[in-house]
Amino acid sequence: MKIDILTLFPESFKPFEESIISRARKKGVLDLNIIDIRSFTLDKHKKCDDAPFGGGAGMLMQVQPVYDAVKSVLKKNSKVVYPSPSGRVFNYNMAKELAKEKHLIFICGHYEGIDERLIDIFNAQEISIGDYVLTGGEIPTMAIVDALARFVPGVISEDSLSEESFSDGLLEYPQYTRPQVFEGRSVPEVLLRGNHQEIAKFRHAESLKKTKKNRPDLLKGVQDEN
Ligand code: ADE
Repeated sequence: MKIDILTLFPESFKPFEESIISRARKKGVLDLNIIDIRSFTLDKHKKCDDAPFGGGAGMLMQVQPVYDAVKSVLKKNSKVVYPSPSGRVFNYNMAKELAKEKHLIFICGHYEGIDERLIDIFNAQEISIGDYVLTGGEIPTMAIVDALARFVPGVISEDSLSEESFSDGLLEYPQYTRPQVFEGRSVPEVLLRGNHQEIAKFRHAESLKKTKKNRPDLLKGVQDEN
């Protein structure tokens, strides 16, 4: 999959030079490019912001550099994403769907955002990562790209995707590793006995317990088996 990220702050994407995403880039399963919007400005002072028509607080990103930056990478099969607090709230299934695309272009907004006509022209999908406002689109883009990349074949093992939070509508069960006793707390007995049926039953019950406590909204419409 190819992903182009358009930003005024290319240095913000250093985390993608580490760990799983970096390995996927080296393997060639993720072709991830960070593109500096400022390199497209025609302004001799490299200015990229402008005042909004109608007044109001803050500045918008200038239309021309963003438009030209998108045009420089846009192909027939590209999907443009604009992370914004006004978008549909991102979730597991949206990550899975985005991972099926051939080419994604992310526009990282800054200041008060971008001119609405850019969203219309490129039919951009607006995505929010939650009901709060961040200072720019770089962190949301990173969160969305990281989450969808996990579903791109070859990025992580299939096994890692099969029993994780949200994969079956519940939060993941708690996990334990060595030592068996830590700070006086023991690992649940059932995990040490090697009875896989019992372990599966225990884990499902723990998943339900955690979901009820932290995310009761996920259980709406789900048959409570216990
Ligand atoms: N930009 C600023 N805040 C955001 C949010 N909550 N989601 C996506 N993009 C944003």
